[in-house]
Amino acid sequence: MDNVWNIVFVTSFLLSIVIFLILFKNKKLVLKSKCIKQLPLGTLGLPFIGETIEFVSCAYSDCPERFMDKRQHKYGKVFKSHIFGNRTIVSTDADVNKFILQSDANVFVPSYPKSLTELMGKSSILVINGSLQRRIHGLIGAFFKSQQLKSQITRDMQKYVQESMANWREDQPIYIQDETKNITFQVLVRALISLNPGEEMELLKKHFQEFISGLMSLPINFPGTKLYQSLQAKKKMVKLVQRIIETRRNSDTSKVPKDVVDVLLNDSSEQLTDDLIADNMIDMMIPGEDSVPVLITLAIKYLSECPVALQQLKEENVKLQKLKDKLGESLCWSDYLSLPFTQTVITETLRMGNVITGVMRKAKKDVEIKGYSIPKGWCVLAYFRSIHLDDKNYECPYKFNPWRWQDKEMNIYNFTPFGGGQRLCPGLDLARLEASIFLHHLVTQFMWYAEEDSIVNFPTVRMKKRMPILVRRVES
Ligand code: HEM
Repeated sequence: MDNVWNIVFVTSFLLSIVIFLILFKNKKLVLKSKCIKQLPLGTLGLPFIGETIEFVSCAYSDCPERFMDKRQHKYGKVFKSHIFGNRTIVSTDADVNKFILQSDANVFVPSYPKSLTELMGKSSILVINGSLQRRIHGLIGAFFKSQQLKSQITRDMQKYVQESMANWREDQPIYIQDETKNITFQVLVRALISLNPGEEMELLKKHFQEFISGLMSLPINFPGTKLYQSLQAKKKMVKLVQRIIETRRNSDTSKVPKDVVDVLLNDSSEQLTDDLIADNMIDMMIPGEDSVPVLITLAIKYLSECPVALQQLKEENVKLQKLKDKLGESLCWSDYLSLPFTQTVITETLRMGNVITGVMRKAKKDVEIKGYSIPKGWCVLAYFRSIHLDDKNYECPYKFNPWRWQDKEMNIYNFTPFGGGQRLCPGLDLARLEASIFLHHLVTQFMWYAEEDSIVNFPTVRMKKRMPILVRRVES
């Protein structure tokens, strides 16, 4: 009899465990489905690769917004996807993007492909967070805004532009992107470490090209791989910067910083070690490297297609040049930045061209924005391009219309070419100044022709499909 009771007891015990487990699992399912219900609509695509192939192929086509438009139409302005190996919430909504940009590192941290983070290292300003990022960002931002640096950049840019243009031949195609890459790299390196053109600069350029060729490589690091070669190139560049740092530490440097290295060395915080400074000098060349050349190339593309704007730009610049010639003065940085039409041309190029299409972050905790839920660990892509090309924000958004910016306040959340919040691009004034100087010298000294089939569309400009122009010197 005892045995029977034992069997009954054990069976009912096991049954209750099974029932408990079923109920618990169901409860979990209910909770999980509740959570999934709140996720934005969308699809995660194929296993492992998700929607990456479609995303990338659209990004490099003549119609990059096809990926976004299709999903926006189906799911709304915020949708879920799976790109670059991460479950991702994509936002084409200005309010959601504003929240993402304004959030601190407790909520979102930058997220880059693995090969890129390996190359940048742990202490790069592009990946660090919290007080250290704010400190470095503040120091660099203030220096880039200083009159002293703007004057130096103006002098350097004028010199290198003139040297480059002196070699232009009327019967040979000019590749603006290549010309400007060379010029802006030298200007940036002078601002960062005061290296002058010469043998060391040429060596640095060579190593830098090797370094960035691995930015989008497979994250495999052993001798022979692209990533390995890139890391070796970075090591050589870091050595060069370390030598400069050592010399500065040993010399009695003045308190007035002459470049970014000085700015960081002068900082009393012990957080800014020599290794961190050297690494960051190289990493800062990444965002500065092709953004300004692409901006200038795009401005020339849009101007080639809009003769009225080109004429007005030319008149404004020639007028200022004549005035300065009469006064016997050369143009200073504030002259370039106060040319109103030139600035609207640059602003409109930034809106239409979308040099940086968006920024990626990773959620540090579950976040709810405007009713959309972003689970911890998911990535978010705050996509600027769709907002800049939305007809609700800009009338005829695909028309190059610099005049739309005249007397118009920039709505900072419908217009974020330089990002926003704590990571707002510290190089934004520098970018505008360099573009203004190049355009000034181009339109006051040359006429140009771009054959119709050679005018490339963005983003093909990024894929090294260079847009040749033929120039003719003019009397201004
Ligand atoms: C047309 C030119 C440029 C555009 C459109 C641009 C755009 C941007 C954007 C959107 C960000 C924000 C990234 C994020 O939130 O994760 C950024 C960050 C940054 N940019 Fe630029 N940029 C340009 C030129 C430059 C130049 C010339 C420099 C010079 C060094 C520069 C240095 C930086 C740095 C250091 C950051 C990181 C700031 C931080 O995370 O604290 N940029 N840029």
